[in-house]
Amino acid sequence: MHYYYQKYPYLHYNYLDTDGVWTMFSIPPKMLIDEFVNKFGYKPKTFFDCGAATGVIVLMAQRLGMNARGIDIKKYPYQFSYLEGLFTNGKIQIKSILDYEPIVADIVFCNGTLTYFSEKELPNVLDKFKKSKMICAIHNTTEDVEAAAANGDELITCNKTRLIKPQNWWIDTFTKNGFKTKYADHIRCFCAVPSRGV
Ligand SMILES: C[S@@+](CC[C@H](N)C(=O)[O-])C[C@H]1O[C@@H](n2cnc3c(N)ncnc32)[C@H](O)[C@@H]1O
Repeated sequence: MHYYYQKYPYLHYNYLDTDGVWTMFSIPPKMLIDEFVNKFGYKPKTFFDCGAATGVIVLMAQRLGMNARGIDIKKYPYQFSYLEGLFTNGKIQIKSILDYEPIVADIVFCNGTLTYFSEKELPNVLDKFKKSKMICAIHNTTEDVEAAAANGDELITCNKTRLIKPQNWWIDTFTKNGFKTKYADHIRCFCAVPSRGV
């Protein structure tokens, strides 16, 4: 079984791109809601998927009763028809987070997205999230690359990533940029809360 199925056993789905069928690994928004409730003691109302891709997660979050929206730098060429409305009604916009206004949301979800930036750009990206309550970030780290190699697997992503760093580097980087952060092992997720709010 490929390492990704072991790391993200809770949600995966296929989608078509110009170079064939890919599998997206993700976290069900319900599990992110549980993390939020554990931390804050009340249910999140708003959800922002930073790197929303085809919109699967935004729709799942909406169906859980949240006001959910997102952006992606790329418009996927083969859209699931049941998700097209999210793009036509503006809930998902095609834009880079670097060109977007600061995000105000209870949960910001970044699946892989933070690894597409340079070390220099990352503080500007994290700055966009300072007005939000909790950033939930999942992505490959050097530990994953090693664990995958031990399993005989290579970690392939749909676009070329730039930042593959150790888990502790990410914790330090969140901390240096003003977030109190823990790694939630059971969902393989960095959960970062702006320090001013703690
Ligand atoms: C792994 S996909 C996440 C899909 C979806 N959120 C999920 O969990 O199923 C990561 C997405 O981040 C997007 N991305 C990369 N750089 C970005 C940027 N500067 N601004 C917004 N999105 C970006 C990519 O285009 C890609 O679709």
